[in-house]
Amino acid sequence: MFAKRTNWNLETNRLSAAMAAHRAAGKPLIDLTISNPTECGFQYDEEAILDALRNPAALKYEPNPRGLAVARDAVAQYYSARGAVVSNEDIFLTTSTSEAYSYVFRTLCNPDDEVLIPEPSYPLFEFLADIQDVRLVRYPLVYDYGWQIDFHALEQAITPRTRGVIVVHPNNPTGHFLKLEEMRKLNEVCAAREIAIIADEVFLDFALGDKPHVTFAANSGALTFTMSGLSKICGLPQMKAAWLIVGGPEPSKEQAVSRLEVIADTYLSMNTPIQWALPALLDMRREFQRQLMGRVKENLAELDRQLAGQKACSRLEVEGGWNAVIRVPATRSDEELALELLATRGVYVHPGHFYDFPAAGYLVLSLIAPTPELVKGIKLVISTF
Ligand SMILES: Cc1ncc(COP(=O)(O)O)c(C=O)c1O
Repeated sequence: MFAKRTNWNLETNRLSAAMAAHRAAGKPLIDLTISNPTECGFQYDEEAILDALRNPAALKYEPNPRGLAVARDAVAQYYSARGAVVSNEDIFLTTSTSEAYSYVFRTLCNPDDEVLIPEPSYPLFEFLADIQDVRLVRYPLVYDYGWQIDFHALEQAITPRTRGVIVVHPNNPTGHFLKLEEMRKLNEVCAAREIAIIADEVFLDFALGDKPHVTFAANSGALTFTMSGLSKICGLPQMKAAWLIVGGPEPSKEQAVSRLEVIADTYLSMNTPIQWALPALLDMRREFQRQLMGRVKENLAELDRQLAGQKACSRLEVEGGWNAVIRVPATRSDEELALELLATRGVYVHPGHFYDFPAAGYLVLSLIAPTPELVKGIKLVISTF
């Protein structure tokens, strides 16, 4: 009765089951996987958010496949503040970056065509690809006092069925940005093989260093789809507002835009109140980002202070984003370790395998967790070794 693509193994994994049982039993819990910014104690300007959603202009319906110009102009301004010129004709509003991925996969791929994804990376890709009948092929990121793309392996992973290379800039959970030289090389590889760059920049604004990182939004070396949205930039995942920007050389860019226009026109999935609110919500990002980066820096400093007092665990370099990766003794699988930490210490952390780390010995911690929780949680994790 059902499609093969939805024939998923929906059994709860051991860690999620243990977590559900832990919660149901009402046991004390320190959750160091928290990624929902609306649950982390940040102050939002509630009045201003609600006011933005109360615009009388939203009572009128003006369907537009790209989204309302007022909202796209605000997105273009967001990029111009970073020094990137983006035409609002190249911007498509979507309800989430996940929806933007599905539009891109549908634009580029026939069933069983391939898209390259970084490893380690974010676990959502698996389902997005299954739903769109796309095959994922992994290319490794290598760590040597910092993360970088293994271009040799990336090029080896390309086949005649490859349609795009996904880069997460900065990546989740490794927190590394592509460097200018990597962007140049990626353009060269993709242009030569006529494949697209798909750049996920949801964490672009969350850099730890002083220098801003270059966006792919104005990239011209190869056909490029850049996406981001309010979910991370403004800490407003509940607003369901994101975007997709098409860039690159003609004629492929123009073709991509006209094909996307049909896809977007078919769904017209953006609601009107959020589009009118988008300029005001986007303006609120600076205050949210100030609070969030303050938290991330404080948590990192605390993590480093505690790690300095022992030798078993260490932290990998992080350049941005909301997570830290801890290297721990690989005496058992990461899942076994995460289960033990939950059962014996009441601390919930993500095992590295959740993000496809190629070997055991990695835990991923959220750096946006409230600091007092993080202080206690790290102490408990470290005391296990
Ligand atoms: C790298 C990355 N891309 C996309 C998303 C999803 O964003 P959205 O809420 O816009 O679908 C996430 C969410 O955690 C993410 O980590």
